[in-house]
Amino acid sequence: MQIIRSGENLAAACAAARAAGRLALVPTMGALHAGHLKLVEEARARAERVAVSIFVNPLQFNDPSDLERYPRSEEDDLAKLKTGGCDLVWLPTPDDLFPAGFATTVSVKGVSELWEGEHRPGHFDGVATIVAKLLIATLPDIALFGEKDFQQLALIRRLTADLGLPIEILGVPTVRDADGLALSSRNALLTADERERALALPKALQRARDAISSGNEVEAVLTEARTALRDAGFDPVDYVALVDALTLEPLAKASGDMRIIAAATIGSTRLIDNFAVPAKHG
Ligand code: PAJ
Repeated sequence: MQIIRSGENLAAACAAARAAGRLALVPTMGALHAGHLKLVEEARARAERVAVSIFVNPLQFNDPSDLERYPRSEEDDLAKLKTGGCDLVWLPTPDDLFPAGFATTVSVKGVSELWEGEHRPGHFDGVATIVAKLLIATLPDIALFGEKDFQQLALIRRLTADLGLPIEILGVPTVRDADGLALSSRNALLTADERERALALPKALQRARDAISSGNEVEAVLTEARTALRDAGFDPVDYVALVDALTLEPLAKASGDMRIIAAATIGSTRLIDNFAVPAKHG
């Protein structure tokens, strides 16, 4: 596994990788878990070479204390990637990506203005700017992202289409712990008690998903889910919503390709999750 650090020739390494066939990129912020490794595995199945970037992107942290306490585990990450089938790891520094004088922001309207966009001002501009840079720096044939961050995936699809980047974007289903909690680097910040109560998030969403699929009234179902989260100790509950899976626009009634999405804080850790909502049975 080749490791490209600050000052080393990333472009040459990527060109060599592309010469071997298709190149896949999996962008990450490190603190790698089985969800990230699933992206690497899916990349491996679709490309001759797999590159992973690890960069805790300051531009996408609207809260400085969140950036400060974001988990970092470089040595462990590199060991996992080596056994996980990665060929090339890129570990840029903030100065590599945002040198003095850097003045460009990539901003995607529409899909990024709702939900996470409302609750984390500037977050999606930070994501769009870094993802555009990572894609252009490595020029992969395919880039893989998790459905765990469903709105982020929608935004990246929009960005890639709008800029005409000749890169396939693949969404990968969310990997969960055995009890159902979506894997997240942020789970490492939960106390044992918070970890237990956090389970209310996937449970409330699955219950709501099933109720909507069975034809129950959407707003009543969402209200019940919000109450279940508050009862479990989530505070605040930023949103629980039924949305169109493509545009992320809220849906008052079940229709088309739908997703139920939520964000809520337990203790001092903000978690997000989502599920596909099958159309009403029968
Ligand atoms: P990060 O949170 O490290 O996630 C990296 C990738 O792993 C994202 O595509 C995310 O959706 C995916 N992922 C996280 N948890 C997952 C899970 N449980 N199952 C499947 N996939 C999962 O998302 C980011 O970093 C950043 O915003 C980034 C895209 C790297 C830009 O900085």
